[in-house]
Amino acid sequence: MERQRPRFVTVFFLLALSGFIILICNITSLEMLSGQVISTFYQIQNSIHSAFKSPGILWPLELNHTYCAHFGQEPTAEEAKEERYLLNSIAWPGPLVQGLPVELSSDPSKSYFVIQGPAEQHIGSQLVVNVHVQNFLGLPKKHGGDFLIARLHSPELGAGVAGKVHDHHDGNYTVLFPLLWSGVAWVEITMVHPSEAVVVLKRLQEEQPNRVFFKSLFRSGFLSETTICNLCLPLNQQPLCNYTDPETGEPWYCYKPKMLSCDTRINHYKGGYKKNLITEYEAQFFQSDVNIKVPIHASGMDNVTVLPAEKGQAKVKKNYNAAGYYFHNSWRPLSGAVIQQFNDSSTITHCLRGKIIYMLGDSTVRQWFEYLTAFVPELKEFNFHSPKNVGPFMAVDSRNNILLSYRCHGPPIRFTSVLSSELRYVANELDRIKGGPDTVVLVSVWSHFSTFPIEVYIRRLRHIRRAVVRLLNREPATLVVIRTANLQKLDPESSLYNSDWFSLQIDAVLRAMFRGLNVQLLDAWEMTLAHHLPHLLHPPPTIIKNMIDLILSHICPVGRKKRN
Ligand SMILES: *[C@@H]1O[C@H](CO)[C@@H](O)[C@H](O)[C@H]1NC(C)=O
Ligand SMILES: *[C@@H]1O[C@H](CO)[C@@H](O)[C@H](O)[C@H]1NC(C)=O
Ligand SMILES: *[C@@H]1O[C@H](CO)[C@@H](O)[C@H](O)[C@H]1NC(C)=O
Ligand SMILES: *[C@@H]1O[C@H](CO)[C@@H](O)[C@H](O)[C@H]1NC(C)=O
Ligand SMILES: *[C@@H]1O[C@H](CO)[C@@H](O)[C@H](O)[C@H]1NC(C)=O
Repeated sequence: MERQRPRFVTVFFLLALSGFIILICNITSLEMLSGQVISTFYQIQNSIHSAFKSPGILWPLELNHTYCAHFGQEPTAEEAKEERYLLNSIAWPGPLVQGLPVELSSDPSKSYFVIQGPAEQHIGSQLVVNVHVQNFLGLPKKHGGDFLIARLHSPELGAGVAGKVHDHHDGNYTVLFPLLWSGVAWVEITMVHPSEAVVVLKRLQEEQPNRVFFKSLFRSGFLSETTICNLCLPLNQQPLCNYTDPETGEPWYCYKPKMLSCDTRINHYKGGYKKNLITEYEAQFFQSDVNIKVPIHASGMDNVTVLPAEKGQAKVKKNYNAAGYYFHNSWRPLSGAVIQQFNDSSTITHCLRGKIIYMLGDSTVRQWFEYLTAFVPELKEFNFHSPKNVGPFMAVDSRNNILLSYRCHGPPIRFTSVLSSELRYVANELDRIKGGPDTVVLVSVWSHFSTFPIEVYIRRLRHIRRAVVRLLNREPATLVVIRTANLQKLDPESSLYNSDWFSLQIDAVLRAMFRGLNVQLLDAWEMTLAHHLPHLLHPPPTIIKNMIDLILSHICPVGRKKRN
């Protein structure tokens, strides 16, 4: 942020100078009464102060794009076209400006929502809610770009559904909810970040791709050294070790150890988080209980009574704009798929008999491995002496011929310590899977990409998608489930690395890139948004149980005869 200071100083200097000239004029035209001089001076100070409050001195956000976005191979013409399309589809409404005084920024506690339509509405219709965002002075915002999320819920029914937010780019937003159950339902609107914070996140995304940094230990005999590693490191400064993956071309570099060769890399681990990323000014837009994940209150009623569908009403609309909803605390997809509840371990064993299940990715897919091995005693974990939480892990039920495995994705995995020999890219792992009707592949790759420009994630998904297409081409009956991103707990610090705003973009890109392929998307975003439990990077067990029920219902759909 150093680079903004000169302009700020210039503006201040000009204001001070003009103030000084006015002061001189005032002094010469008025009698030199000291009291008057002082009061004039205060007036000028006030006018300088209010000049700072006026939006006349905003300046556009100029992003200092690093070379990181396109480090590694050049995308082909077709890939570049898709990338442009994806970047357009996630373009965030501006204006991307800086310098707005915090009083003029969006304040969730001064904002409000209004439920449209009557207090009683019918199942099958759509609830419309208007949100009016205001600043700390209680004045309406004139532009969009605030990050809002919405949920409609009935606690006593264990029911909840996510809403779709539409930004009108003028400070007003419309939220749409499908009405899917009868009873009293409450509207909940939350401002995750004001638009002014999004500007800061956007800057970090482009300018600070190394704000989470990595390290590797190099060792040979008695010599050992540790150096910094990342997806992109400054070229032409210090010698680098190039660990670009020969199969996918995914880039990865470490600074070369002084004494040891690049071949002596032993492991990979998260080095830490860069500090002092934002200025004091920017920090005002990231305050817990002020403008991070703060609810927006209702003006008027905050609930509607949903009545059964009207007789003679046209058939309930199919285009729900939601993936599913909770009812009696269990997830019901709106795709029409029938969900079974796998409440006891024997039904799980029965469903998984003869199956090989590969889980690939981050710790949010590992949660499924942990759930299943804890819940199904017949699934015996094989001891590889793998480090805790890192893996690889494997569990076997040899009587029922079930094999369950977990392996983390490659760099930039932010785990404690992964041996170099265990670092694998998901795309390469997929290429080594035989596939078939008894193979299930569960993939989750999202959370560790939040600190990079989105092009890095697009490239990673391109490689994974290509490998999925190859797998489905070899064995079309393979079940591939891809887990989307989910919401998480945010505070001023974690927002800068893991904000839901980063996840939202990752999530949108993931959905778009796998659209039309024969894979199942597991909508972790909506499953965490629609649920009453707090947002956590690792969703709580009751949500995991719902995810497992969904996956098992895909593996063993009702009415289909099992093999064996
Ligand atoms: C952009 O980033 C580079 C590398 O960090 C730095 O040298 C340069 O001064 C930056 N430019 C601006 C306008 O901040
Ligand atoms: C936003 O909503 C408010 C309150 O209904 C309304 O007064 C205002 O005109 C709307 N703004 C625009 C730009 O439509
Ligand atoms: C690293 O290796 C890859 C693949 O061998 C190569 O394409 C790339 O240019 C290398 N990077 C640098 C900075 O030399
Ligand atoms: C629904 O909202 C109205 C208006 O705010 C309120 O009077 C009523 O008590 C609420 N309904 C329930 C069941 O709480
Ligand atoms: C599974 O457990 C839930 C919660 O205890 C219960 O509501 C549901 O009826 C059970 N389903 C089956 C098939 O046992």
